[in-house]
Amino acid sequence: MHDTTQDTARDDILIVEDSGLYVKHFETVFSTTSYSVSIITNGTAAWEKLKTAQPKILLLDWNLPGLDGVTICRRLREHKCASYVFVIMLTSMQRLEDIMTGFDAGADDYMVKPFEPAVLRAKVRVGMRLSDLEASNNNKIQLLARANLRQQSLIQTLEEKNRVISQQAQDIQKAQKQLVETARRAGMAEIATSVLHNVGNLLNSAMTSSTVIREAVGHSKVSTLSRLAEILRTRPEGLLEFVRSDPRGQKLTDFITEIAAALTAEHQLVAEKLQILAESQEQIRQIIALQQSYAGVTGVKDSIHLPGLIEDATRLFIESFKKHEIAISCDFVRELPAINVEKHKLLQILINLLQNARDATKSRNREDRLILIAVASKSPGTVAIELTDNGVGISPEVQQRIFNYGFTTKAGGHGFGLHGCANLAREMGGTLAASSPGPEQGATFTLTLPIK
Ligand SMILES: Nc1ncnc2c1ncn2[C@@H]1O[C@H](COP(=O)(O)OP(=O)(O)OP(=O)(O)O)[C@@H](O)[C@H]1O
Ligand SMILES: [Mg+2]
Repeated sequence: MHDTTQDTARDDILIVEDSGLYVKHFETVFSTTSYSVSIITNGTAAWEKLKTAQPKILLLDWNLPGLDGVTICRRLREHKCASYVFVIMLTSMQRLEDIMTGFDAGADDYMVKPFEPAVLRAKVRVGMRLSDLEASNNNKIQLLARANLRQQSLIQTLEEKNRVISQQAQDIQKAQKQLVETARRAGMAEIATSVLHNVGNLLNSAMTSSTVIREAVGHSKVSTLSRLAEILRTRPEGLLEFVRSDPRGQKLTDFITEIAAALTAEHQLVAEKLQILAESQEQIRQIIALQQSYAGVTGVKDSIHLPGLIEDATRLFIESFKKHEIAISCDFVRELPAINVEKHKLLQILINLLQNARDATKSRNREDRLILIAVASKSPGTVAIELTDNGVGISPEVQQRIFNYGFTTKAGGHGFGLHGCANLAREMGGTLAASSPGPEQGATFTLTLPIK
């Protein structure tokens, strides 16, 4: 227990008392307790200390040198204290209005001197309990405030992350849109490429036919007809005589027969080629229709008689096969069911496969160049068209990439054909497969289609 105005540590009890006798009495009262007790004998000094260091319990006399106890109490209640001070006024002022003045000034309790030490200790214990309770509450409030701060900073972090995520989501959405657009353009480019490729194939075949027609017309025997007409015109009166006696006249019959035969052959050839030209033209029209079907117009399915369609496709290659001395042979099982597919799609596949088979066989240096087409119903509900050639064959490495868009091993190739064929086969609900025993051993392409 000490008498000081300097101590700033929080006392359990601060006694403000100017009477030396009471100071002694207080010392005795609290000697049996473990409280830390400070005593100040001057009111002004007590207030100076209280401004910076507040005890848990303040025992306050009323009449003091300097500031009086009621003023100190009032100032303390107006002052911003770090924690609550339990104030007990201990004074000889005992009128009811004095007691009420003390309470009005902010005292928590009021005791009149002389006092009962046990009662004072009991009141101090109550004050201590309240003070501890307040301290513990303060503690909890501080913990809560800190938790609140942490929570707020967490919320901020979350909000920040949320902003980043929604920004990323927006970026992803944008990228996705761009991807869809790119894919759409790539798809359109692929369709355009495939259309150009197939139209190109047909134009080749059409050009071959038109060359043949041009040559046939160029060397036509028609011109000899005018010579014949001239001979007949100059000898109308002695025509019979001329035919009988003139050696040239005797050859006239043979000459007419020859011209007739030549003109018939010419006519047949031109008609044949014109047929191919017309077919190519029809094919080109259908390819364009196919492009329109990509643009949303649904394709029309036809009931297809396979041997007829395969014959149509091979006819487009007659000249080319003749030129490269490639034989073609077809083997159809009897009573093939008609299948329901889009005719032009099936034709596109056959034309591409025939073109590849031609390229593969002509590149191989052998006499018996051959392409075989077999049609059979190998598993129920499907029909398989097998196109086999004895050409350059396929290595296992090539086999893996053969249907890839843009894959080609040919000098002037594009690598669009098989890729497009596989897509068309899929669109028809079927499959296209390639197999080969190996390089220089030919290849077989199998198109399997459902019979619907
Ligand atoms: N019958 C075949 N025998 C051997 N290899 C073949 C045969 N058919 C295709 N191939 C191989 O597959 C590749 C791809 O064929 P695809 O038809 O897709 O393209 P391409 O014929 O090279 O060019 P294009 O786009 O002009 O058709 C060919 O380059 C060739 O190497
Ligand atoms: Mg090809």
